Amino acid sequence: MKYTFSGHSGLQLPQISLGLWHNFGSEDPFDIARAMILHAWDKGVTHFDIANNYGPAPGTAEMTFGRVLREDLAAHRDQMIISSKAGYWGWDGPYGNGGSRKYMIASCDQSLRRTGLEYFDIFYSHRYDPDTPIEETMQALVDIVRAGKALYVGISNYPADKQKECYDYLHAAHVPCVISQYKANILFQETLINNLPVAQDNGSGFICFSPLAQGLLTNRYIHGIPAGSRASKNVFLRPEQITTQAVDCAQRLGNIAAERGQSLAQMAISWLLSKDVTSVIIGASSVAQLEDNLQAIHNTTFTADELARIDAAI
Ligand SMILES: NC(=O)c1ccc[n+]([C@@H]2O[C@H](COP(=O)([O-])OP(=O)(O)OC[C@H]3O[C@@H](n4cnc5c(N)ncnc54)[C@H](OP(=O)(O)O)[C@@H]3O)[C@@H](O)[C@H]2O)c1
Repeated sequence: MKYTFSGHSGLQLPQISLGLWHNFGSEDPFDIARAMILHAWDKGVTHFDIANNYGPAPGTAEMTFGRVLREDLAAHRDQMIISSKAGYWGWDGPYGNGGSRKYMIASCDQSLRRTGLEYFDIFYSHRYDPDTPIEETMQALVDIVRAGKALYVGISNYPADKQKECYDYLHAAHVPCVISQYKANILFQETLINNLPVAQDNGSGFICFSPLAQGLLTNRYIHGIPAGSRASKNVFLRPEQITTQAVDCAQRLGNIAAERGQSLAQMAISWLLSKDVTSVIIGASSVAQLEDNLQAIHNTTFTADELARIDAAI
């Protein structure tokens, strides 16, 4: 595993990070979640990406991670980067969603209690909230750092013009934005065009999520929708998104991957790693998937012909 400096900071992140959005909640088998965290750690994945709402139930991915850390990895806390976030729905009422100072700080405190951590390495504003002044959200992040509850801060999903405002505010407060988190994959490239250059110009690292388009960029749906798959059980990837067109596209991309000696999942992650991003956050529901994906780091260069064929395939 290679480690890359995040933007202009002194913080190095692994090429591949593990995300706990799905498959690590209280409704998922703990043994598999634990095995995935330990396998990732064994393979050099030092960065774990969590948020206050990850589960299901919301919040329970933080509890799962906290338990594994306590029971298996406590001796390694200083070798790890653990991230959490607040911004999407956390709890009912006017103070459990968005970017208010009240929500950001209360949610960070809750996340620390659920994980059992003394501090997060990175704490994020999970989304732009048009109803809260950016200054209020950014000052909450600054104060979370000043209070010792996080070492670094990040932003996620901010539109490009708001992204720049965040960087300016945080820079002036001497708590620079260490990382910016955006969706990016072969099927969704617009953030690489709109947001990556803004991060680079402002010294922020850039980390991509959903590199496999939640499973569409794998062989998961080639023969229909398997029981237990994300499309079978989740609102974030709906059965109607598994179209003939999407499956045909996966098959065309899979043929290119095979010629490179890769699985489609590996090629999709390698493709992102070739884009000058700091890290790619992968998801998985088994150790086998995780292991498949981690092999992506071994082949991250593409010929012009391969890139043209990938473009044609989508
Ligand atoms: N900042 C944000 O707003 C935001 C939003 C979304 C995600 N994220 C972060 O990014 C992380 C990754 O997102 P994601 O889970 O959508 O990533 P993803 O890598 O695009 O999708 C992961 C899913 O793809 C399937 N899969 C993975 N490897 C596979 C393989 N080798 N072969 C076949 N299928 C495979 C699994 O689906 P099955 O479950 O069907 O097996 C797995 O759950 C999240 O955990 C979270 O940390 C952040």
